[in-house]
Amino acid sequence: MIKASAPGKLYIAGEYAVLEPGQPALIVALDQFITVTLKQADKQGSICSRYSNGISIPWTRRNGKFYMDQRDNPFSYIASSVSIVETYLKELGYTLKYFDLTIESELDNKDGRKYGLGSSGAVTIATIKAILKFYDIEYTAELLYKLAAITHLSLNSNGSFGDLAASSYEGWIAYSCFERDWLINHLTHHTLTFTELLEETWPKLMIEPLESPEDLRLLIGWTGSPASTTLLVDSMQDEQDEMNGFYREFLTKSHACVSNLIAAFKDGNIRDVQEGIRLNRSLLQSLANKSGVDIETQALRDLCQIAEDAHGAAKSSGAGGGDCGIVIFKQEEEILPMVSAWEKKGIMNLPLQVYKTPDISHKAITGDL
Ligand code: PMV
Ligand code: MG
Repeated sequence: MIKASAPGKLYIAGEYAVLEPGQPALIVALDQFITVTLKQADKQGSICSRYSNGISIPWTRRNGKFYMDQRDNPFSYIASSVSIVETYLKELGYTLKYFDLTIESELDNKDGRKYGLGSSGAVTIATIKAILKFYDIEYTAELLYKLAAITHLSLNSNGSFGDLAASSYEGWIAYSCFERDWLINHLTHHTLTFTELLEETWPKLMIEPLESPEDLRLLIGWTGSPASTTLLVDSMQDEQDEMNGFYREFLTKSHACVSNLIAAFKDGNIRDVQEGIRLNRSLLQSLANKSGVDIETQALRDLCQIAEDAHGAAKSSGAGGGDCGIVIFKQEEEILPMVSAWEKKGIMNLPLQVYKTPDISHKAITGDL
């Protein structure tokens, strides 16, 4: 039996701008996991998780390709991950086997409300890892990320794939997305084999693992109301043309702000990191005002105000509209009063830590900031 886990993620800075290739974001992986278990099977395979109410749904292969009846398929990310990895395995000359796959998730709370920690990204990385392990193939964080990005692109994801970078590289990362059109072009015209494509330098892609300053403390507040990143990103994209000049200015300012923030992070200068968080918050607020997309909800505004009163630097995390907010403190600062003030407003402190395993290669993919 094979088991593989991938951590959830949280955006710290650079949201929305990071949808544009080459725009930096700061993201972390957290110690909440999705775990995939694989067991060899004979004539057909199955997939089972809470997404299918615990029922095992069968799958087979047609013309050598993974096949699950679309009407049975609540697992689009898993199904596409299997297809993409199997295309790669066939190219490497492997004979494909059947397996039963089970998914367990810690990325939702007990009544099934999501925290916004990126379950679609983590489930993709965990599935790809489990299959590669099943075939005894060694992998790096870069290979996991690239296979996962191809998977999400083939599902027409409108995201930046930063969740995939965090779930595969783990820890703290500086990230910027590759040119989507470049990859789409290669995938449609088959100009390179899969193996070549995975070894290729992807234009504008940057994933740089970062060491956190020792005296930096990250706190996470959960508003309790779930938000759909996909819908928020769609709304922002609908507004983008109307905001033309403003949006380009937003990108320039976000680029400068997040680059400075990352530089301060590397220097271990917490005060400058905090200033960067505050500036990024105000850039996102002005984007929300201009576009009408509700990024910082009332609950997130309360979360930030309470944190700022306690001398933390706070902002919404990710697409906003609910989910989580983050706060950066210097280690010695008192946080308990903030946590109890949060509780009075119905905001829950998620007691999570940044997560990183030493067991695979996390070599950076460098790019220009
Ligand atoms: O809401 P989250 O944590 O899934 O973050 C979304 C961040 C965006 O920049 C708005 C979208 C993206 O895919 O990068
Ligand atoms: Mg979110």
